[in-house]
Amino acid sequence: MRTYSLIAPAKINLYLEILGDRPDGFHELVMVMQSIDLADQIDLRANGTDVFRLHCDHPQVPKDESNLAYRAAALMQQQFPAAFARFGGAEITIHKRIPIGAGLAGGSANAASVLVGLDLLWELGLTQSELQELAAMIGSDIPFCVAGGTALATGRGEKLAPLVSLNQLYVVLAKYQSLSVSTPWAYKTYRQQFGHAYLTNPLDLEQRLQQVHSGPMINAIAHQNEAEIGQLLYNDLEKVVLPEHPKVAAIKDHFLTLRPLGAMMSGSGPTVFALTKTLEQAQQIEQQMRQAFPDPDLELWVTQFNSHGIRLAEPLI
Ligand code: C5P
Repeated sequence: MRTYSLIAPAKINLYLEILGDRPDGFHELVMVMQSIDLADQIDLRANGTDVFRLHCDHPQVPKDESNLAYRAAALMQQQFPAAFARFGGAEITIHKRIPIGAGLAGGSANAASVLVGLDLLWELGLTQSELQELAAMIGSDIPFCVAGGTALATGRGEKLAPLVSLNQLYVVLAKYQSLSVSTPWAYKTYRQQFGHAYLTNPLDLEQRLQQVHSGPMINAIAHQNEAEIGQLLYNDLEKVVLPEHPKVAAIKDHFLTLRPLGAMMSGSGPTVFALTKTLEQAQQIEQQMRQAFPDPDLELWVTQFNSHGIRLAEPLI
């Protein structure tokens, strides 16, 4: 039976601005997304049966249809019934390294891998944009996870414009293992607290989007100006998550005392990251954080920007 092993990188948000409400109940966003080396591995093995089965040894990862990876498989089955009838289902094994409920798009990256993996197993030959259209049907961050790299994301997050690749920066990630944040909660709370300031006029929204395209963060990325990128990090969701979780706010504050290029919460959190120019500085900051927060519940990683989305794992020799 054929098997494909795929690498599914996590992402961080360098910028996340909430512009307003959308008729579909989601939010109109402007984000800059960046993929990083911290990644899950997903193995897909054709099983010649009429079912998909999920396997993962992480106790908090659901193995049923509530898992985005499972939903991706169900969508492929529904969209490509002839391929499903010909090739059958698959055993899908998730080797989890990306923390869950972390704001790092781990679940979305797993779903993106299932789309790419079934495209290969079923010999469909889908283009990247066809895969991204399918991805948008199951989650806002999944189209980005297919392609990875550095991208401006608008709409629900599914409209992507690739940006110059920034793969020379290093990242220190910090997350309390026992703490996770529900993304729907973060957006709902934001709407309750800041909804009065949402842009409602379509012309205002359009104008704001135009400004972002030529705005300071996009400019800083175009010029690879790392110091400016660090200073322009921005995330509206910090306004609701940090007051709710002072422990997370304390991590961000301490990161900033260690003089990285910048520090911020990723997505709906609670992971906080610091950016550095060198691996040495990232490792030094990791050590200093470890000393300042000896709590074993605090997990730290040193990783790096990368310029790819879902890709095949190197074959084992
Ligand atoms: O699309 P995804 O399933 O990742 O979104 C998770 C939740 O985040 C949604 O159910 C919604 O509450 C919120 N969200 C939003 N606006 C977006 C993206 C996500 O309100 N553009």
